[in-house]
Amino acid sequence: MGNYDFGSGCTNPETFPVQELAEAAARAIPLVGTALARYPGDLGHLGLREVMAARESEREGVAVSPDHIALTNGSMQGVTLLAEAFMGGGGEGEGGGENIVVTEELTYSGTIGAYRRLGMRLVGVPLDEDGMRIDALESTLADLHGRGTPPRFIYTLATYQNPTGSVMPKARRLELIEVARRYDCLIVEDNCYADVHFEGEKEPSLYALDDSPNQIYLCSLSKILGPGVRQGYLMARPPVLDRIMGRRFDGGNSLLAASVLAEYFRGNVWDHCKRMNGPLKEKRDAVLAGLEDSVGDICTWSRPVGGLFVWVGLPDDVDRQKLRELASERGLGYAPGSAFHISGEDVPFLRLAFGYIALDDIRLGIPVLGECIREARMGRTTGGLASALAVESAAAAVGS
Ligand SMILES: Cc1ncc(COP(=O)(O)O)c(C=O)c1O
Repeated sequence: MGNYDFGSGCTNPETFPVQELAEAAARAIPLVGTALARYPGDLGHLGLREVMAARESEREGVAVSPDHIALTNGSMQGVTLLAEAFMGGGGEGEGGGENIVVTEELTYSGTIGAYRRLGMRLVGVPLDEDGMRIDALESTLADLHGRGTPPRFIYTLATYQNPTGSVMPKARRLELIEVARRYDCLIVEDNCYADVHFEGEKEPSLYALDDSPNQIYLCSLSKILGPGVRQGYLMARPPVLDRIMGRRFDGGNSLLAASVLAEYFRGNVWDHCKRMNGPLKEKRDAVLAGLEDSVGDICTWSRPVGGLFVWVGLPDDVDRQKLRELASERGLGYAPGSAFHISGEDVPFLRLAFGYIALDDIRLGIPVLGECIREARMGRTTGGLASALAVESAAAAVGS
């Protein structure tokens, strides 16, 4: 039995810069010195905020102030902090006390879980290959306003969407901004995959297209370095930033970690990303080639130009419960599509994460997944292409 972990959304452990980080720590700790004897404050270590402001500014081509950045414990702390800041108290008034967030119908499972536990109601907007559909967003906002329950904000993954991998083109981003403006709605852009980029032009971030205070932006070091460093950031303009920081009661995030990361990343963000992204692209290509060879005749899948996931569409006749069992018996893990649906609907998809798993295991594992998919097709007891084709031609013969 193999051990094929296509479930973990972590990045590549093989390119983690252990030695360089150790050297950065040796330089950083004497520099930060006795500041470690105090609380870092809401925004956190200035050096890392400057480095991340430069990262944003260089990627987006707009000025970014380190004073508008608050360092967080991963981007996940930003996800919950801003929600708490904009939740109503449950009484009358704004939104009738209902805490609604509008988001892509398929989105990051961590956010779905966190917002549910905070008592928020997610309202889904369908997506296509260009991300959230703006016609559907517009009718959703009109409907919510008509009922007297406007959403607290729109939460969107416009770039390398998790799980579908879609990237929203600039024209659609401008439409999104315009619709949100008309309904006076905040937009939260979670851009944690921003620099996990393999090919083609990068699309601009929403905040780079809209300098109103209605844009809240989240980013992270989890996907370009590793989630173990627990370092992310939230960016917003006043007065929105002040309102969010008003919900912060933790004294700020680790000055020790931030000072080491500032030292490591100063002048090094793009070289670092290049070193990480080359091997990730090779892994993505191995997944795509493996899928073509093993299930090219029966499945569909995304071809992401960035991010860490391939979104695989299964044939209608796959018993998804059986597929999970077969995969688990063979030591193969993946995330079922239902994990990303805001209502947990059992959509006929699965998500393959390719960052953490070794290249050789991708090459060995995808054919195993292919066998499992074939064997999980309804009414079949054996796998293999020949029998799959036999079932298809039998189905065609009875006109089903
Ligand atoms: C869209 C999205 N947002 C946030 C996170 C959480 O990242 P962090 O480790 O920065 O908290 C993830 C992790 O998978 C993610 O995919």
